[in-house]
Amino acid sequence: MTEQAPSFIWTKKHLVGLDELSAEEIVHILDTAESFREVSTRSIKKVPALRGKVVALLFFEDSTRTRMSFELAASRLSADTLLFTAKGSSVAKGETTLDTARNIEAMGVDIFVIRHHESGAPHHLASRINTSVVNAGDGSHEHPTQALLDIFTMRQRLGRIEGLKVAIVGDIAHSRVARSNIIGLRKLGAEVVVVGPPTLVPASISAMGCTVSHSLDEVLGEVDVLNMLRIQFERFSGNVFPSVREYSRFYGLNSERLARCKKNVLVMHPGPMNRGVEITSEVADGLNSCILQQVANGLAVRMAVLFLVSQGAE
Ligand code: CP
Repeated sequence: MTEQAPSFIWTKKHLVGLDELSAEEIVHILDTAESFREVSTRSIKKVPALRGKVVALLFFEDSTRTRMSFELAASRLSADTLLFTAKGSSVAKGETTLDTARNIEAMGVDIFVIRHHESGAPHHLASRINTSVVNAGDGSHEHPTQALLDIFTMRQRLGRIEGLKVAIVGDIAHSRVARSNIIGLRKLGAEVVVVGPPTLVPASISAMGCTVSHSLDEVLGEVDVLNMLRIQFERFSGNVFPSVREYSRFYGLNSERLARCKKNVLVMHPGPMNRGVEITSEVADGLNSCILQQVANGLAVRMAVLFLVSQGAE
């Protein structure tokens, strides 16, 4: 992995995608997160880094982990938070995303954290408002902080990113997590193989620098990390595999498949999980799994991102 210069100065006001970050910037976020991780071990889990700042959480799409993690991260940095959820808001009366953001911005906001069902919504806002914008997941485009926390967890557990072989398995077509992971991992020198049925793996994905396999069994023994993705049933417009049972038979991670992996293979899942579909409970809750560690690390990573974009804005 690239060593970061001690004099590295963060200049970015927004974090809309890993596509826009250099390897050095990604490493700087991971290193900053490492220093924030210690805050959560203190009896008083707060630092004054964003005291007096306001972080507005704009959630146009459902979330548990990302929303709560950003809210807690802002609170640990002593920022005030405003929570907007589309349900119950004036979006139902036809107000646009941009007008919603501009009206909340008028209340005096320093950072917007936005999750939106439309790909590109955070970029749209970032180019039209003055406030910093952090992407918390846009359509099937990018989920940069999820990939950062995934990469942070891989580095923590396996000691490096460069040279790792990472399999991202499942519903690649609808996955912003897959896209951001591929971008980040490739920038840091990991090898990425995406695995899934042809109907869930777009032909164009290999242009992102990963290889494609339609057989999980063929890659099992070669990889250091298995990142199992949720089948996003809510985004399907038709049948993309014959049955859930058939999908699990070919692409589900179970104990029998885990036994054929490297002994220390890291099992990841961004959540929420479809237990018994892409992963069995035995594996999800087993010794190779770091799923809850991913969530715990998400807090430190989001503290780092909020802190850095605030610095970038100044
Ligand atoms: N991984 C993730 O984005 O989970 P949520 O949808 O619960 O935020």
